[in-house]
Amino acid sequence: MSVIERIGERERLHVNEVLDMGFRASAGYKMTKRLEEAFAEKFDSKYAIAFCNGTATLHVALEAAGVGQGDEVIVPPLTMSATTFGVLHANATPVFADVDPETFVISADSIERCITPRTKAIIVVTLFGLAPDFDRINAIAKKHGLAVIEDDAQCFLGKYKGKTVGTLGDIASFSFQSSKHMTSGEGGMLITQSEELADKIRKYSCLGYASVGTKQGKISKDDIQNPNYNRHISLGWNYRMSDVCSAVALGQVEHLEELVEYRQACGKMFLEAVGDSKLLVPQKTPADCVNAYWAFVTRIADESVSWSDFRSKYMELGGDGIYSAWKLTYQEPFFRNMTMLGRDKLLNDGVSYEDGICPVAEALQPRLLQFKTNYFDLEEAKVQADLLAKTIKYFE
Ligand SMILES: Cc1ncc(COP(=O)(O)O)c(C=O)c1O
Repeated sequence: MSVIERIGERERLHVNEVLDMGFRASAGYKMTKRLEEAFAEKFDSKYAIAFCNGTATLHVALEAAGVGQGDEVIVPPLTMSATTFGVLHANATPVFADVDPETFVISADSIERCITPRTKAIIVVTLFGLAPDFDRINAIAKKHGLAVIEDDAQCFLGKYKGKTVGTLGDIASFSFQSSKHMTSGEGGMLITQSEELADKIRKYSCLGYASVGTKQGKISKDDIQNPNYNRHISLGWNYRMSDVCSAVALGQVEHLEELVEYRQACGKMFLEAVGDSKLLVPQKTPADCVNAYWAFVTRIADESVSWSDFRSKYMELGGDGIYSAWKLTYQEPFFRNMTMLGRDKLLNDGVSYEDGICPVAEALQPRLLQFKTNYFDLEEAKVQADLLAKTIKYFE
């Protein structure tokens, strides 16, 4: 079998079930509850709380971890900027740790150098589908009393030393945006083993309602119809996932292994196409990790070959296209111009966002070629991998 359907009958049936319920208030949250239960089971987690996207998840994860103004949160700069948006949404100060030159993920050594008395949490991004050195990062976090939040938007069912990514930090965040391994168009999920964190996560994502909790995302009729009911026991946000999105996401969880295996098969084809070329050096997957291959990413090692020349040649030969890695977060205009809707005034003094703070990431980012792996027809992926091999040959 070399072709799969990304969205099929499972998703349609669940969506129809939601539509048939007619959005009656009494029927609300039913599908989301089913999704949360299925996701928790798939990720060996006690609690799963669904969100409208994978940026809101990061914001609430930090709020639940007690992060606020004056606190510093260590993040990598080589990632989608939403990782850092979460920190700014929580009124905290992002501090950028550099990445590893071979695996491209956040470096434990660099994290250690970024710690100050104000550090409260680390957001670990499993970039492109690969886990960083969780054992070392967790040891550092334990020593300094820091929360570890996994940003696993790009890593579904990846492994680190036999453990499923998502179960290694205090809280793990996933995104169901359309480019991700599983999707509901938009959407997200937080998972945790901690009852205390799960309860806060639910309340903060659900307008601070008193009677929502770890496995309960809806206020009861009795509460709503009681004039003396004290609804809001804390500030919160309305970051809930809709039942329609939950219906699609539930269908996706039901064949998540297949969706991930296809990405991994594509990643493997690209890896084989690169072979032992001196021109390209792909993201290194350590022997004790399983890469979920949200994308296949490689560095152009030969300085004489420009990024745009490589891409042009690949496309001229019939390639689908090559993405660049995002600009480093602190090099984006919202940092350069401090257009942060007032959060800039809350940043701690003495934290630098100048070029030079993360030299490895700065050197890597302009040289990274990012190939999509979301082919649901492996023949199509093979054509693309062969074109990559042809492009390499042209430049060698
Ligand atoms: C690493 C990372 N973190 C966070 C996000 C934000 O997720 P969302 O688009 O669902 O808000 C994304 C991608 O979209 C991402 O790639």
